[in-house]
Amino acid sequence: MNVFETHSDEETIELGRRIAETLPRRAVVLLIGNLGAGKTTLAKGIISGLGAAEPDEVSSPTFTLIHEYGPASSGARVYHIDLYRLDRAEQVATLGLDEIFDRDAVVLIEWGERFPQLLPAERVEIRLETVGAEDRRIEVTGRGVSTNSAALE
Ligand SMILES: Nc1ncnc2c1ncn2[C@@H]1O[C@H](COP(=O)(O)OP(=O)(O)O)[C@@H](O)[C@H]1O
Ligand SMILES: [Mg+2]
Repeated sequence: MNVFETHSDEETIELGRRIAETLPRRAVVLLIGNLGAGKTTLAKGIISGLGAAEPDEVSSPTFTLIHEYGPASSGARVYHIDLYRLDRAEQVATLGLDEIFDRDAVVLIEWGERFPQLLPAERVEIRLETVGAEDRRIEVTGRGVSTNSAALE
């Protein structure tokens, strides 16, 4: 487990870029925290660090549920998913997450912890907590995933 504190959006994006370097090519990453904790902001950094899009090109998938980034041909693909608006596991099932988890991609999920039975056991969990107006505590834990966490130290 690695714990960080950031003091601005920019610092959170930069931390996301560093976390991106620790991820295997294929990974499911849960972004866990309250509204406004910085899940989408951190996703901007991770997606940018993976070379799939610039931070400005990343928007919240709250209404669209799934955004996909990366070149159409090959290279880094990233899925950014937000399950906030879904209440029931049957609704989530229609998204075909298993098929997405099988792809060679990094899959970032906001509010995924609400549907634990639909998630792979091997995953990275990132918990974000608001500790001040612009201060966030961010904890990164690999569960059964070999992250290159040395890159964060
Ligand atoms: N250190 C910080 N890291 C991330 N966001 C921050 C930070 N300080 C303030 N903020 C603000 O908190 C909000 C985070 O929003 P967002 O990333 O969409 O959160 P979430 O996806 O968790 O709901 C933004 O308005 C952002 O400007
Ligand atoms: Mg969000």
